Amino acid sequence: MGVNILAIESSCDETAAAVVEDGRKVKSNIIYSQIELHKLYGGVVPEIASRKHVEKVNQVIRAAIKEAGISWDDIDAVAVTYGPGLVGALLVGVSAAKAIAYAKKKPLVGVHHIEGHIAANYIENPDLKPPYMCMVASGGHSHLVHVLDYNKYEIVGRTRDDAAGEAFDKVARAIGLGYPGGPKIDKLSKEGNPHAIEFPRAHMEDSYDFSFSGLKSAVLNYLNGCQMKGIEVNNADVAASFQKAVIDVLVDNSINAAKAHSCKSVALAGGVASNSSLREAMRKACEENGFAFYNPSPIFCTDNAAMIGVAGYHEYMAGTRHGWDLNAEPNLPMKSI
Ligand code: KG4
Ligand code: ZN
Repeated sequence: MGVNILAIESSCDETAAAVVEDGRKVKSNIIYSQIELHKLYGGVVPEIASRKHVEKVNQVIRAAIKEAGISWDDIDAVAVTYGPGLVGALLVGVSAAKAIAYAKKKPLVGVHHIEGHIAANYIENPDLKPPYMCMVASGGHSHLVHVLDYNKYEIVGRTRDDAAGEAFDKVARAIGLGYPGGPKIDKLSKEGNPHAIEFPRAHMEDSYDFSFSGLKSAVLNYLNGCQMKGIEVNNADVAASFQKAVIDVLVDNSINAAKAHSCKSVALAGGVASNSSLREAMRKACEENGFAFYNPSPIFCTDNAAMIGVAGYHEYMAGTRHGWDLNAEPNLPMKSI
């Protein structure tokens, strides 16, 4: 048997545990999604998320061990997301990981959530090796990361305001689609015309940074304008045109950054990376520009613990060990060279 990592993820509204062998082989991947619960409120309610994590965390961990077909003794280390994320939610996973590591005398390895999202790409792509350019777009983050090695990163672009997923969620709410907005806009867009409405694309001069708040305001202004003029809104056209504006910027910045850093490969990561049109647009742009393109399956794009197990493996192999004082860090910065 290789190196088995038990991984735990509870940074937002998924309570998840997984067992990953040698940083690539997912032996189990258990996800309890709280989406149904938070839907009622139109977004994640932190206190409710924490309480649900407390209720579910031991169940998903036990299920992950069982499904992997291993015993507690077969685990080499316990990896856990300790930031960034909701502090109360993170604390549940961190406390559970500490308790198991202490009781079973296993090393404890804290993992950065975004490093986990990036590492999801290794699960199904055995040929993917650093260096490469990775576009991480999730509900809380939009980072363009030059992955120099398995745990060596250079952040070359970031959002200056809203994250891409946040923009999806806000626009979805404005057109009455509910939470979480990303998958709903993805679906509705297929019935709309992406060229129907000209929404702005923010391109930052001399930088690969992003900004989505102007786009979000433009969509809200458009909707208000239609309402005032009594014009019926075609929601599918709004969804498709908004989505196209986000995708254009994500793709342009990724390709330009990959060229500037002489990368041979481009990867996508994070919840928004499960967007079907984004995957298609990035694949096409990579093909046209001669880059190999990588993308995790949707189940490994949105929050899961398998990705934490992969990132945790590389941290473990690099000698990272955390003490019993490991704390949840809601604003944990990503280490960048
Ligand atoms: O990575 P993730 O699960 O959680 C964070 O780390 O934030 O990302 C969740 C985000 C949400 O904003 C959700 O609306 C978005 O990913 N998302 C999508 C799609 N599926 C999830 N956005 C666009 N298209 C999708 N198919
Ligand atoms: Zn995430």
